[in-house]
Amino acid sequence: MIPAETLAIFLDTARSRVDEALERYLPVPPECPEIVGQAMRYSVFAGGKRLRPILTLAAADAVAQADRARPVTALIPAVDAALPAACAVELIHTYSLIHDDLPAMDNDTLRRGRPTLHVVYGDGVAILAGDGLQADAFALLAREPVGDDPVIVTRKLRALRAIADAVGSTGMVGGQALDLQAAGRAPGHALALDADGVRAMHARKTGALIRAAAVSGAIMAGALDETLRAVDRYATDLGLAFQIVDDILDVEGKTGELGKTAGKDAAGAKPTYPALFGLERSRDFANHCVTRARQTLAEAGLTRGWLADIADWVVSRRS
Ligand code: IPE
Ligand code: IPE
Ligand code: MG
Ligand code: MG
Ligand code: MG
Repeated sequence: MIPAETLAIFLDTARSRVDEALERYLPVPPECPEIVGQAMRYSVFAGGKRLRPILTLAAADAVAQADRARPVTALIPAVDAALPAACAVELIHTYSLIHDDLPAMDNDTLRRGRPTLHVVYGDGVAILAGDGLQADAFALLAREPVGDDPVIVTRKLRALRAIADAVGSTGMVGGQALDLQAAGRAPGHALALDADGVRAMHARKTGALIRAAAVSGAIMAGALDETLRAVDRYATDLGLAFQIVDDILDVEGKTGELGKTAGKDAAGAKPTYPALFGLERSRDFANHCVTRARQTLAEAGLTRGWLADIADWVVSRRS
C-alpha cells in the first residue's frame, strides 16, 4: 500500500517511486551506446504526468486493499510486484510519443515542454530510441520481479501478454494506423470515420495501453478474474475519457500549459471528438465515461485506494 491522505500526495509518492525505478531500470553505457541511452532518457525524464504507471500502482493497491486477490506465496507487497510493469508501460508510452511526433506522423516539434526528440537527435536516432524503449520494456517485464516463484512467473507472463496485445497491431499500433489513414496521411488508403469509428480508433490508439496499465497492475497483485474484468471495464471508460479530454485540450489548451503544440488536430484534419461533436458534447461524453468508471468500481467493491479519484483527475486536468 502507498500511504497517502490526499490524491495529490498519492500522485507525488507514486510518481517518485516510478521515477526512481525508471532511473534504475534504464540501461547506461557501456550496456548501451551513449547516444541511444541519452536519447531515451531525454524523452523519459522530460516531465510527463506518469498517468499510466500511476494507474498500474493504483490498481495493484486497490485490488490488495479490497482483499480481492488470491493469496500470494511470495512475500512481495502488491505495489512492489507491480512496479516493473508500471515502468514498462511508461517506457512504451514514451516510445509511442517519440514516434507519434515524427515528421512522418504528427510532425510535432514540442513535447513535454521540450523540443521533440527528433528535433534534437534527428529522425534516425528518434526512431531507434523508440524501438529501444519498447524492446527494453518487454525485457523488463520478463525479468522483474526477479525469482523463480511460479506464482510471480505466471503473473509476469499474463501481464506481459496483456501489454503486448495492447500495443501491437490489434491495439495502439492499429489505432495509430487508423489515425493516419483517417487524416489522409496514408496515400491511396483514405478512410472516413463516423462516431463509432472514432470511438474504436481512440480505444486502440490510447485506450488499449491505459487498460493494460491498470490490468497489469491488478494481475501483478493477484486479482481474481471477476475483479480483473471490473478493472478492465473501469480502465476502458477511463481511456476513452482520457483521449476525449486530450482532443478537447488540443482545442482549448495553451501550448505553454500543455507542453505540446495546441491546435494541431484541426490543422492536421485529425478525426477527434470535438471535430465530430463540438466541445460541449465532447465534455459530456468524457464526464459520462467517468461516471460509468466510478460505478464499475463501486459495484466491484474497489472503493478503497485512488482509482475513483484518478478518474476525476483525468477529466479535470489542464495538461
Ligand atoms: C499524451 O499522453 C498522448 C496521448 C495518448 C493522448 P499524456 O497526456 O499522458 O502525455 P504525458 O505522458 O503526460 O507527456
Ligand atoms: C497519440 O494521440 C496517441 C499515441 C499513441 C501516442 P495524439 O496524437 O492525440 O497525442 P498528442 O496530442 O500528440 O499527445
Ligand atoms: Mg497522433
Ligand atoms: Mg500527436
Ligand atoms: Mg492529441
